[in-house]
Amino acid sequence: MAHPSAYVNSARPFLKWAGGKQRLLPQYAPIFPPREKIKRYFEPFIGSGAVFFHYQFPQAHLSDRNEKLIEVYKMVRDQTEQVIAALQGHRNEADYYYAMRAQEPAGLSSVERAARLIYLNKTCYNGLYRENSKGAFNVPFGRYHNPKICDEPRLRAAAAALRGVDLRAVDFAKAVETAVPHDFVYFDPPYVPLSQTSNFTSYNGAGFDYDDQVRLAETVHRLTAVGVRVAVSNSSADLVYDLYNQPAYRLIEIQARRNINSQADKRGPVKELLIVNYDGGCKT
Ligand SMILES: C[S@@+](CC[C@H](N)C(=O)[O-])C[C@H]1O[C@@H](n2cnc3c(N)ncnc32)[C@H](O)[C@@H]1O
Repeated sequence: MAHPSAYVNSARPFLKWAGGKQRLLPQYAPIFPPREKIKRYFEPFIGSGAVFFHYQFPQAHLSDRNEKLIEVYKMVRDQTEQVIAALQGHRNEADYYYAMRAQEPAGLSSVERAARLIYLNKTCYNGLYRENSKGAFNVPFGRYHNPKICDEPRLRAAAAALRGVDLRAVDFAKAVETAVPHDFVYFDPPYVPLSQTSNFTSYNGAGFDYDDQVRLAETVHRLTAVGVRVAVSNSSADLVYDLYNQPAYRLIEIQARRNINSQADKRGPVKELLIVNYDGGCKT
C-alpha cells in the first residue's frame, strides 16, 4: 500500500451532507486567507468537511455537535481498514437497508456504527443524513442502481488528511474558545431560512434557531475583537445582514444552487453570503 501521505492531495468528502460546500469552493478560494498564512484552522460545523478536505490544513480543529458524525470521522481516521471491511459487508437492497436502519446503534461497536452511518448515507433517498426529533435516522431507501458503498481510495485519502487533526463533538462556541490571532475559523452553520414560513430547524433534530444565530454572531464579534480571522457562510436572509452589519465585516455575495430541494423548479441559483472580518484573501 502507498504511504498515507500519497493520498493527501486527493482527499474529498466521503459523506453527502446537507449544505455541503464542494461546489462553492471555486468561489471561496479567492476570499479565504492563503493556506500558508494560517497557523491553526478551526471548522466548528464540519458536516462533510468539503472545505477542510480541499485545504487540508496541517493543524486543524474540526468539530460538530453531532456526536455520531464525529465518531465516524474518528473511526475513518483511526480504524480505516476495519471501517472498510465493515462497509464491504453491506448491501444495496431494500430489505437489508430497512433492517440496518432499524438497528439500535447503541448495540454496535464504534466501527460498526461508523460503517452503518456511511452505508445509510450512500444508499438512502437523496443521500442525506437526517434524523427525526427523537434522533432516529428516518430516510427511506434510495433505490440507486450502483451506489459506491465502500469507496476505499476516498476513505484512505480522508484518513490521511485527518491524521493529527483534533476532532470533537461540541457546540460551536466551545470549539473556538482557544482560537487566537494567526488562526482562521470557518463557520458553516445551518442557514437562516429565506422564507418566512420555514422553521429554524437543523439536520440533527436538535434545531438551530434564532437564538443560535444571535449566539453565533456574538461569537464572531468576540473573535473579531481579539484579532482572529473568521469567515461565515449563511443565507442572504435579512437577519444575516442585520447580525453582521458592522464596519468590521465584508458581506460577499456567493451564487449557489439549491441542491437538496425535491422540487426540480426550486433548484435554480440562489444568493448566499460569505461574511469575512479581514481584508484581502488568497487571490491566486
Ligand atoms: C451546513 S452543515 C455544514 C456543512 C459542511 N460545511 C459541509 O461542507 O458539508 C451544518 C452542521 O452544523 C452542525 N450543527 C448544528 N448545530 C450545531 C451547534 N450548535 N454546534 C456545532 N455544530 C452544529 C450540524 O450537525 C451540521 O453538521
